[in-house]
Amino acid sequence: MSFALLRAPLRKAAFSAAIPRTAVRTSYRKFSTPTPPPPPKAKSNNGLFIGLGAAIAVGGLAVYLYSDSTETGTAVKSGIQVAKVKANFVPTKEDYQKVYNKIAELFDEAGEYDDGSYGPVILRLAWHSSGTYDKDTKTGGSNYATMRFEPESLHGANAGLNVARDLMEKIKQEFPWITYGDLWTLGGVAAVQEMSGPKIPWRPGRIDGHAEHATPDGRLPDASQGGDHLRNIFGRMGFNDQEIVALSGAHALGRCHSSRSGYEGPWTFSPTTMTNDFFKLLFDEKWVWKKWSGPKQYEDKKTKTLMMLPTDYVLTQDKSFRKYARAYADSNELFFKDFSAVVARLFELGVPTEQFVAPEPWIMKNLDEQDTKQ
Ligand code: HEM
Repeated sequence: MSFALLRAPLRKAAFSAAIPRTAVRTSYRKFSTPTPPPPPKAKSNNGLFIGLGAAIAVGGLAVYLYSDSTETGTAVKSGIQVAKVKANFVPTKEDYQKVYNKIAELFDEAGEYDDGSYGPVILRLAWHSSGTYDKDTKTGGSNYATMRFEPESLHGANAGLNVARDLMEKIKQEFPWITYGDLWTLGGVAAVQEMSGPKIPWRPGRIDGHAEHATPDGRLPDASQGGDHLRNIFGRMGFNDQEIVALSGAHALGRCHSSRSGYEGPWTFSPTTMTNDFFKLLFDEKWVWKKWSGPKQYEDKKTKTLMMLPTDYVLTQDKSFRKYARAYADSNELFFKDFSAVVARLFELGVPTEQFVAPEPWIMKNLDEQDTKQ
């Protein structure tokens, strides 16, 4: 479909039965998808499909088309809260940029927390909310932000992410119209970009789900395992070897906490700056088992201050993984390019394409690209 058509002046036609089906049917139509009703006593994942079906059905009625004469246009977000829909609030890309900016400012309020930034833990929240996707059943992923609910919030893999959820809740209070899935993934985008990483294309459209949509335990990777496990877990999300390696490069950022995962320490000397150092260090340092009473992890022989998880180290041991890890160690540019592409895909897992408010993902501005007064 041509952009000319998308950009043609379109009237807001919410709740109008007179909307021609053709207009509704065009790809990437702009509409607000209300939160689906709770699925009936979800015994299995069936509830998800029922809920989604209802959402799409209602979404078909509540269509918001948009007039887009500027580059950013006037986007209409999905999952807008009912009250705001009634108030005819239509968030634009600029509104999302304001949310981005608030999140980015929040990173620096970390003070003594960890390495002085909340960025890494917010990125982890975005990844764990997206990485539950199962391509076969089309369940999980970032769409419903189900980590808000027990038991998913209590899954071992999510230990410590209450810190990130609580931080994001402050932003949510200020911008109540944004859905949790959009908020958390936008947080991940801001974390990568503000910590000197590549741009991560992103667009809104996720809707808030219900506890019944929560995913079963065991969908996220177990750091004590090897290559087969990584392929099983990430293959279920739809990722290949190259993408597994690129994604693992996120461990340039942040650290492990013995109180959360049991593991301890940072992977790199600059845990709040995105680089390909994770890969460089994997090859350049000698890694030995850490002698301690905690779970099996590696430490660098030289300084004993850095760590690698068994699932990190396997990237140098498995022939296929090693090829990509070597390439990323040799080229930060290649790593950034591939990391950007795969993280953008990760954050859209589980979101039906028709829910997105724009045909192509947006590039959000970094704080330092904007007027400082903003
Ligand atoms: C390859 C499989 C992966 C495993 C087994 C794994 C495991 C872990 C573990 C055990 C921690 C420490 C948590 C803590 O104690 O606070 C951690 C932290 C982290 N992970 Fe991963 N992870 C994987 C992939 C990813 C991916 C794909 C991303 C993002 C794209 C990511 C981003 C992060 C970040 C940013 C942190 C630091 C969090 C903080 O500083 O609080 N990880 N990961």
